[in-house]
Amino acid sequence: MNSDSDLQIAGDILEVLHLLQPAREHPSTVADFVGLARSLAADPAQWEPLVQYDATSRWYHRLRTGPGYEVWLLSWVPGQRSGLHDHGASSGVLTVLQGELTERTERGTRRLDTGSQRVFAPGYVHEVVNDSLEPAVSLHIYYPGLTDMPMHASQSTAAATDVVPA
Ligand SMILES: [Fe+2]
Repeated sequence: MNSDSDLQIAGDILEVLHLLQPAREHPSTVADFVGLARSLAADPAQWEPLVQYDATSRWYHRLRTGPGYEVWLLSWVPGQRSGLHDHGASSGVLTVLQGELTERTERGTRRLDTGSQRVFAPGYVHEVVNDSLEPAVSLHIYYPGLTDMPMHASQSTAAATDVVPA
């Protein structure tokens, strides 16, 4: 006799099509967004030709949008920094695609090597800096899309209305 908790499917699960989740066209969970970032990181052809470097201000490019989310590509020449900021109502996934970045929070400093990922909730405060001697590229997914990026550092020169992804 079977109880409710020991259901087993004999044979090939892939043959039971009505039990499978349909493939989602767009990511909607933290794991989905992390996975999207990893898949883009593993496929430089989708972003590497687009990257530019700007010594006067951080370069950024909206790579993709979907229902409720945005994907941004950023470059950082040595010494460029975001300033201390949060992301308004947005959650995010930061992924280092090339080079290395440094993240500073009130809890300390963290080096982010190529492939490193940070997932953050609304209200998370950090500063991202390229402290290295080589340019860096990062990918930022925001959910919902970034509409407000309040600056926290008094030394920041960004106007209150500027929304520059970081
Ligand atoms: Fe940020």
